[in-house]
Amino acid sequence: MRVPPSALIALLIPAMSFATRSSAEVASTPQSSLSAPASSPVSWLPGETKEAKDARMAWWTKAKYGMFIHWGLYCVPADGEWHMRNKKVSYAEYSKLAQEFNPARFDADAWMTLARDAGMNYVVITTKHHEGFAMFQSKASSYNIVDATPFRRDVVKELSEAAPRHGVTFCAYYSFLADWGHPGGQAGCPHWDPGFQDGDKRAYVTNVAIAQVRELLSNYGKIGVLWFDTDGSRDITQGEVATVTEVLKMQPQLIVDPRVPGVKGDFDTQEQHMPLLRPKSDYWELCGTVNGAWGYTGAAAKPLEKLLPYMITAWGMGGNVLMNVGPTKEGIIPEDSAERLRQIGGWLKTNGESIYGSTAGPFTWLPWGTATRNVDTVYLQVFQWPSDGVLRVPLANKPVKAWLLADPVKKELPFEMNGERIVIHLPEKAPDPVASVVALRVEGEPVNNFISLSLNKHVTATCCQDSAKGITDDDALTRWRNTNGTASFTIDLGKPETFTTLRICPAYGDIKSGLLEVRSEGNWKTILKEMALKRDENIVTLPAVTGDAVRFSFCEETNPPQISDFELYPAF
Ligand code: GLC
Repeated sequence: MRVPPSALIALLIPAMSFATRSSAEVASTPQSSLSAPASSPVSWLPGETKEAKDARMAWWTKAKYGMFIHWGLYCVPADGEWHMRNKKVSYAEYSKLAQEFNPARFDADAWMTLARDAGMNYVVITTKHHEGFAMFQSKASSYNIVDATPFRRDVVKELSEAAPRHGVTFCAYYSFLADWGHPGGQAGCPHWDPGFQDGDKRAYVTNVAIAQVRELLSNYGKIGVLWFDTDGSRDITQGEVATVTEVLKMQPQLIVDPRVPGVKGDFDTQEQHMPLLRPKSDYWELCGTVNGAWGYTGAAAKPLEKLLPYMITAWGMGGNVLMNVGPTKEGIIPEDSAERLRQIGGWLKTNGESIYGSTAGPFTWLPWGTATRNVDTVYLQVFQWPSDGVLRVPLANKPVKAWLLADPVKKELPFEMNGERIVIHLPEKAPDPVASVVALRVEGEPVNNFISLSLNKHVTATCCQDSAKGITDDDALTRWRNTNGTASFTIDLGKPETFTTLRICPAYGDIKSGLLEVRSEGNWKTILKEMALKRDENIVTLPAVTGDAVRFSFCEETNPPQISDFELYPAF
């Protein structure tokens, strides 16, 4: 959070201090389907029951972690997978890259070995990205790796054959409507290469997209996930949706993502940015990158201290993680990316019990880390090892046993109840410098007792009252749809409450200038003004503030973000 010191109301809150927790990459990009009632699951298979869907999803739910591979002609200019569109390269020019594509060092087994060393259980390869170039042999279009490059090998085939040898589930990404390399493919408006890209859209969908999906489902064995992509276009007919659905039935075990408009995906996708609130849908996946790029750019891998907590946070919310690497034109995964993945794999060797097969942890937010769960064991992933050696766990349950996953003999850690917290005494030194895991077995269904003071409290807003209740309902899908740059909302807490932490969850974008006021004994006091909050810095800590209502105002923001949730926490 960036608040100029002059903005603090020093008189009202002496010695105010701020701390922010940059929970890596936070903020949500809702992409897809809403969750459905248990009896009618969201599924690409019409009429499927919840039991059948859960059975179909079972391997994916346990797998938790996959490798995303963005590989196509774009690795040659090394400018990312949107190079053709960003630089407005014509097809005539761009397609010449195929002649330069000869990845002699490609070795499908080496990639699968890396996936296993990294602790990954599935792999999703871009069989055709928006550039339109197929990385597999295709009768539907000769613009493919076998027919158009000197390499002449079908890498999708090689990967699909190597994956099961290594116990990895093979999955295929396919850019369906978006295609810049075939006439009629969706290429943004206006087309930058009209002589080539204009064309019959319906013919493209049938003769290229649907035909290639049929090829993928016919020639590469069983596919785990068909990971469709789009660039936002919704230009598809009902008849085409029906045909794709029929084609998908060639492999009824398929799991399908929600990016072909009209085809209901099986899971929600979150791209790069961590949802701030746990997605309500039963199945969701966060896709992210090792180095900030999808296709190869030469960018360096992110540090482990950034990547690992980011991934664990998603697992703590019950998600899967699909981590991307961008191989080079020589056919290798950059060594620093590979090394980072192996480090994560090392962490999973010790702590994977807390990840694979786990479900979301019981907490909405924890100051020191996150948690997952497996039946009666709550796994506490501690990112900030307590300096006093005492871990406070806000569970209402009776503790049974606590131990460190890094401890092979599972020596019991001493614990006691202290008010509302289970208090676990830890060794002085964290077993892992980034994230150490404490397993805690408890009696009964874990019950979180660290609840936002604003949860389900009444909200009044100066604008867009209809949607204002989304601010306190702990649901990412409901949000205050404010568009007014000077609007404010007031949360009535019902009685005086004392809080020390704000957790602000904008739906998109940043807050540029917010004003926070608190009502105490009928008088409003300003607590913070000119609050600037980046979407990935959503925690603000304050000295204790007491009041029976809080008011948050935007101060002439040109584009105020919608607010998913506004939480207030007492001292921990
Ligand atoms: C973004 C990128 C696209 C990439 C996708 C993966 O939409 O623009 O190139 O394939 O993310 O989810």
